[in-house]
Amino acid sequence: MNSVINSIIADPSLAAEGHLKIEWAKSHMPVLNRIREQFEQEQPFKGLKVSISLHLEAKTAYLAKVVQAGGAEVTITGSNPLSTQDDICAALVEDGITVFGKYNPSPEEFKALNVKALESKPDLIIDDGGDLITLLHTEYKEYGVNVRGGAEETTTGIIRLKALEKDGSLSFPMVAVNDAYCKYLFDNRYGTGQSVFDGINRTTNLVVAGKTVVVVGYGWCGKGVAMRAKGLGANVIVTEIDPIKAVEAYMDGFAVMPMLEAAKLGDMFVTVTGNRDVIRGEHYEVMKSGAILSNAGHFDVEINKIELEAMSTEKRTVRRNIEEYKMKDGRSIYLLAEGRLVNLAAGDGHPAEIMDMTFALQAMSLKYVNDQYKVIGSKVVNVPYELDQQVASYKLQSLGYRIDKLTAEQSAYLDSWNEN
Ligand code: NAI
Repeated sequence: MNSVINSIIADPSLAAEGHLKIEWAKSHMPVLNRIREQFEQEQPFKGLKVSISLHLEAKTAYLAKVVQAGGAEVTITGSNPLSTQDDICAALVEDGITVFGKYNPSPEEFKALNVKALESKPDLIIDDGGDLITLLHTEYKEYGVNVRGGAEETTTGIIRLKALEKDGSLSFPMVAVNDAYCKYLFDNRYGTGQSVFDGINRTTNLVVAGKTVVVVGYGWCGKGVAMRAKGLGANVIVTEIDPIKAVEAYMDGFAVMPMLEAAKLGDMFVTVTGNRDVIRGEHYEVMKSGAILSNAGHFDVEINKIELEAMSTEKRTVRRNIEEYKMKDGRSIYLLAEGRLVNLAAGDGHPAEIMDMTFALQAMSLKYVNDQYKVIGSKVVNVPYELDQQVASYKLQSLGYRIDKLTAEQSAYLDSWNEN
């Protein structure tokens, strides 16, 4: 396929800037570089078509190039309308990858770009949040005829996949990359923790120290966000619906209370639940004037924008990625990046060293599902533990760190049931 003719992008003249960004990411992704070398030799995807939906920025671009180096014909589209970077799209087209992506398309155009990425009838897919999977299991089943399997990036996508599997409707195997240790322990926690404040800080240019930051949801992402908020000097409040996570937040030193109480106290709010309407009308009623709302969960449904709009008299953009809602009683509530993932829509996403491990898992999982799809069947499966350990070992080696090995006696001791 000719990538230049077939692609739909905003501006091909931005390629030079894109190439530089990809080069910078690549130079901080040693684990993925090792996998690229293996793929170049083994050609695991020779003659296969791979369609990818991910946040279309520099680290993702390098993953696409690694899959291409493994012999695949790669097509890529964005997994969020605001996280696609036009210079990256232009660079990828020059590199022979077919791109269907633009920054800030309309909802209809966004969907049409996702659909275009499936028209090649791919053999393998990489999905992020389940958009490709949904299309392939509803309106565009005909594009799924060749799919052997794929890999899913995030918590929300896996929830959707498991629902599809439970329904008996999943048509091919999918690897739950998010559930690997080398994903959620680092990407969700440290990646989201750091990049959320990167997004908030560069967008608002305000201080975090001394402010009250409300973190909604204390899962893997929420733990990272709360940890970094504390590190920046904030007073942190956590809201939860799971009593175990709530105790964990309490033991980690955070205040825990219902959202209706936290809403009165917060200066900044970050939602990371994967759930809808976690901030809604009743909460806007009691918020302080000047409250800043942002979301880091996968979809823009966590902060109810419809109710916010209905309760306000005026809405205006006061800074790039900051919308001010004037409430009827004169208060102002600010929403960052239209309630979309603040770290990607108003920032560059996770650091490259973090995505190095996540995308190493993606690349290995894609090879695994291609090798084993007949054996696995139409199921959601975990990344094999050996692959997870291999990614961690490569990471340690890249850092120059070594660890101990079990002695023969220790192995025997751990395997026995009657040795004291
Ligand atoms: P998780 O399942 O570990 O945590 C979600 C937490 O939210 C759970 O503890 C749950 O009890 C809590 N929760 C659910 N409804 C709630 C409510 N109404 N109020 C308060 N808490 C509530 O999920 P994880 O991995 O932390 O992911 C969260 C979201 O972030 C997902 O949508 C995921 O796809 C997305 N994500 C975003 C990333 C980013 O770069 N911004 C990176 C990785 C994941």
